[in-house]
Amino acid sequence: MKTKVSASILSADFGNLEREFRRAEASGCDMVHFDVMDGHFVPNLSYGVPVLKSIRKYCSLPFDVHLMITDPLKFIDAFADAGADHITFHQEVGSDPEEVIAKIRSRGLTAGISVKPKTPVELVYPLLKQLDMVLIMTVEPGFGGQGFIPETLEKISALRSEAQRQGVELDIEVDGGIGFNTSPKVRHAGANVLVSGSYLFKADDMAAAVASMRR
Ligand code: DX5
Ligand code: ZN
Repeated sequence: MKTKVSASILSADFGNLEREFRRAEASGCDMVHFDVMDGHFVPNLSYGVPVLKSIRKYCSLPFDVHLMITDPLKFIDAFADAGADHITFHQEVGSDPEEVIAKIRSRGLTAGISVKPKTPVELVYPLLKQLDMVLIMTVEPGFGGQGFIPETLEKISALRSEAQRQGVELDIEVDGGIGFNTSPKVRHAGANVLVSGSYLFKADDMAAAVASMRR
């Protein structure tokens, strides 16, 4: 499985976003990861629909939208209209997951569900056939620049085995504390989509940083 790299713009220079997009494109990133935080589901605020809408035309990469919000269903249409290509929502928010997945796919986008570090990954097993992606959070969601939680590796390998058992070609994404030292571990466990924010955007040579995550 080819490793895809999704650059989390939470750590980008927002005064020069267009330049950051050129850097991500030229460095071989596969996607841009767009973290939406509502101050309820996570103890932080970030950015939302109007920002996505206005920056979309400046970037040629697909937008991988990560909704850390309590009521994802309410905002799927708005994010789809704003130019999202993929939407991931959280298992813990208590929405009817099948309804949210169906809504995302009805808009022609790919759908993902995410679990926080302490949420058992088994909870998403009944949904695998409807999903394109499962995002295993490798830090507590809310902030960039945190340390990778090693206990999440077991969840990745358990999920990869279960997807194979069900015959599902699933993208397994990891998010939080991913860089050159953690990439081999998560890939070995079965992850194939690596989100990285601070490691990539703080690198002097982003292309070298991306390449180091694929090695
Ligand atoms: C955290 C976000 C991440 C964050 C990752 O809640 O979901 O996408 O940007 O940042 P790093 O790569 O710096 O840990
Ligand atoms: Zn994220």
